[in-house]
Amino acid sequence: MTVREMTIDDLEQVMRIEELLFRPPWTREGFFSFLMQNNTLFLVAEEKGKILGYCGLQMAADEGDILNIGVAPERQNEGIGGFLMDSLLLLADQFGIGQIYLEVRKSNTKAIRLYTRKKFEQIGLRKDYYTEPVEDAILMAHYREGGAFRQS
Ligand SMILES: CC(C)(COP(=O)(O)OP(=O)(O)OC[C@H]1O[C@@H](n2cnc3c(N)ncnc32)[C@H](O)[C@@H]1OP(=O)(O)O)[C@@H](O)C(=O)NCCC(=O)NCCS
Repeated sequence: MTVREMTIDDLEQVMRIEELLFRPPWTREGFFSFLMQNNTLFLVAEEKGKILGYCGLQMAADEGDILNIGVAPERQNEGIGGFLMDSLLLLADQFGIGQIYLEVRKSNTKAIRLYTRKKFEQIGLRKDYYTEPVEDAILMAHYREGGAFRQS
């Protein structure tokens, strides 16, 4: 398995995963417009031409926001999400990002465990942040320490 930057040609496979994982899913146009921006970094995990997962980061000055992360349902619990996060953190470090933020549904214990493993900590709660269904978001942050992001 390799991790590389997402391209427009990947969007068909990425959308298949996105539509299985998220309600409401991002649209193809949504991904496309992010890919066109030069302050975003989207990665895919790929094996023999098949996209297994993806994640995205938006950067502004020395801050980053994780926009999404998803792994194909049939390939979860193999470490792919962890590998994507490690790759994103390494690249963010190279871009000089000092802190990274994300929001996650309060009930998404699996994603919260992943982020906690990658040294994100809860810094706040956004009330009724999500729709379909309405739910609070936990706001998490990861701060660079000693010149690099701690990964474990
Ligand atoms: C959250 C998500 C990205 C995690 O991806 P993943 O590839 O399953 O993540 P990992 O495999 O790295 O870790 C998941 C679990 O598998 C375990 N695992 C990792 N490698 C493993 C291996 N080789 N063998 C057995 N277990 C393994 C991890 O310890 C972890 O266990 P835990 O959940 O009990 O902590 C994925 O579940 C997903 O796409 N969810 C739906 C979309 C979503 O909610 N995204 C986040 C929005 S904020």
